[in-house]
Amino acid sequence: MIKNIFFAAAMGTLLLTALPAAADGDYRAKAIAVIKKDFQPHGQASLDRLAEDGLQAVCNRTGNKPPEYMVKQLEADQLADVKYPADGKLMGDWKSGEKLAQSGRGFTWSDDPGLPVGGNCYNCHQISPKETSFGTIGPTLYQFLKLRGTQPDIQKYVYSKIYNAKAYNTCSDMPRFGHIGALKEKQIKDLVALLLDPESPVNK
Ligand code: HEC
Repeated sequence: MIKNIFFAAAMGTLLLTALPAAADGDYRAKAIAVIKKDFQPHGQASLDRLAEDGLQAVCNRTGNKPPEYMVKQLEADQLADVKYPADGKLMGDWKSGEKLAQSGRGFTWSDDPGLPVGGNCYNCHQISPKETSFGTIGPTLYQFLKLRGTQPDIQKYVYSKIYNAKAYNTCSDMPRFGHIGALKEKQIKDLVALLLDPESPVNK
């Protein structure tokens, strides 16, 4: 069952991307009208999330393959959007990160807007070996330290990747957690620790 707005949004994108490019304007406008008709605003799930921003517009109209000359600038714009912690610390507590990675709550019509939004990471990634139920849309993150090494910039890379995945892969399927305000600074730090702390089960 699809419980999750990220997947609902991804399905909408797939539908629009699959439309023939030649009659783009006409089909697109009709498809958008049909989709909008089927959605009702409810609770914190308002209709503004059906609108695409500039980057999504480029991805949606190029089958997720923007021309090479645009890619560098588009990704630089996304990276410029990342806000790093004022205290300069990018690693938090992996135990809280694991709880967050497990939680798929948040941003749906029945959610209390006062409660934190979950990270939803296991829906797409293998992470800790203790969790045997996971999705495979994204690559495995198990043994992430070994995979990516311990070079000095790795924490910064992981923080920014979670904050805005499109800064490194223009039309990434991974939600831009910091950019859309789903995850707060402390939560992203906790997820960085889940992937990079040597004590985390991910790296055992
Ligand atoms: C809807 C699916 C989806 C969700 C949910 C998702 N990811 Fe991803 N993620 C991907 C995909 C696809 C990739 C590979 C393509 C890319 O890099 O954008 C990826 C790549 C990554 C990478 C880069 C891996 C590397 O080797 O450098 C990291 C780190 C990551 N995800 C962490 C997370 C974390 C942490 C969460 C939860 C907060 C999460 N992802 C949630 C789909 C997802």
